[in-house]
Amino acid sequence: MINKNNKQIIGLFGFGVVGEGLFHVLKHSHTTNATIKKICILDPKKERSLSKDYFTIEAADILDDKEINLVVELINDSEDAFHIVSQALRKGKSVVSGNKKMLAAHLPELIQLQKETGAALLYDASACGSIPVIRNLEEYYDNDLLLSITGILNGSSNFVLSKIFNEKKSYPESVKEAQRLGFAEADPSLDMGGWDSLYKLVILAVHGFGALVNPDDVFVSGIANLQANDIRFAREKGYRLKLVAQATKVNGKRFNLMVMPKMVTEDEYIYNVENEYNGVIIEGSFYEKQFMFGKGAGGHPTGSSVLSDITARMHGYRYEYKKRKYFSIPEHTNDVKVKVYLRFKNLLDFSHFEFEEIEEKLSGREYSYVIGSIKLSNLIHIRKLIQTLDVFLAFFEEPAVNESAIT
Ligand code: HSE
Repeated sequence: MINKNNKQIIGLFGFGVVGEGLFHVLKHSHTTNATIKKICILDPKKERSLSKDYFTIEAADILDDKEINLVVELINDSEDAFHIVSQALRKGKSVVSGNKKMLAAHLPELIQLQKETGAALLYDASACGSIPVIRNLEEYYDNDLLLSITGILNGSSNFVLSKIFNEKKSYPESVKEAQRLGFAEADPSLDMGGWDSLYKLVILAVHGFGALVNPDDVFVSGIANLQANDIRFAREKGYRLKLVAQATKVNGKRFNLMVMPKMVTEDEYIYNVENEYNGVIIEGSFYEKQFMFGKGAGGHPTGSSVLSDITARMHGYRYEYKKRKYFSIPEHTNDVKVKVYLRFKNLLDFSHFEFEEIEEKLSGREYSYVIGSIKLSNLIHIRKLIQTLDVFLAFFEEPAVNESAIT
């Protein structure tokens, strides 16, 4: 619902790093006809930088306020967020959200709700902070020509890797610094474990390929088990380790998603993406590669992306999920092989991995690794188990596509 001045009267849920960032960014924007009327928070005792009159702990103060025509949802809990967003849409209020976990889990219902209610849900801030990747995938990139979306989608883990690699800082102190700077999630294991990247990747797959993928069907592995030996291996061979999310067409009709640390070579665009920056490479049949780079985390960069969605709503913009309507949607598959480095400590841990081929092997008392090809379907099968093992996985650029996936 847009009033006759096109003015956005905003009810904001959450006043954390991004909520506060949005408030400042909005104050400096002279073209956005929007104002924050109420802010719903969880903890009324917490000291805030704004007058008390702004705040409420009652969601109804926003949801039932007829003057509020736009709800901006920036809270942590994904199920509470889903409840708020659904209610707002049902009441005919459009919504801007940054909650990638909520979106990845509930996009099918949320797409349906938008259809039924006519209200719009925008969420460019949910993936890659300040980089406008979702709207670009939705509007610009043709499904048939789009071959892959690859990148660093999480600022905190990239920040931690930069600190470890470039400044030789320890893992725990780097994670703490990412938290202090407001990059990390309330639970930083979501960043380090690759989950945050996974949720973002699932969202990108909807706008890139039109496909709705259940996050449980995607292999994800993070950097929490990274050890000095892995860093030494990467350094000695000239690689930088980056946590990479990728969506790749394996043939015209299928595509694969995965999140895993990658041994990145100097000639790759993401090699020089450091700290809280994100970088996304979009590859197409005729234009080859394009690269989008920018700050992926932090109050102001993410706040500015929320602001962009608010402005887009002012002009009546909504996602049309074009790829779902006008193109044949490729099928998600894990029937592909990847070339990986697997570091392990004991043979029992190693025995769970069914390698198709082994190229290189080193066995030592403290440090053993294997480099070889393995099917993602094997990795996904043992996804939960891997999280309990003392192993570290990283993949290499060389695509080792399974022959059965080639037509
Ligand atoms: N924790 C997220 C990150 C915030 O580090 O990328 C932005 O989504």
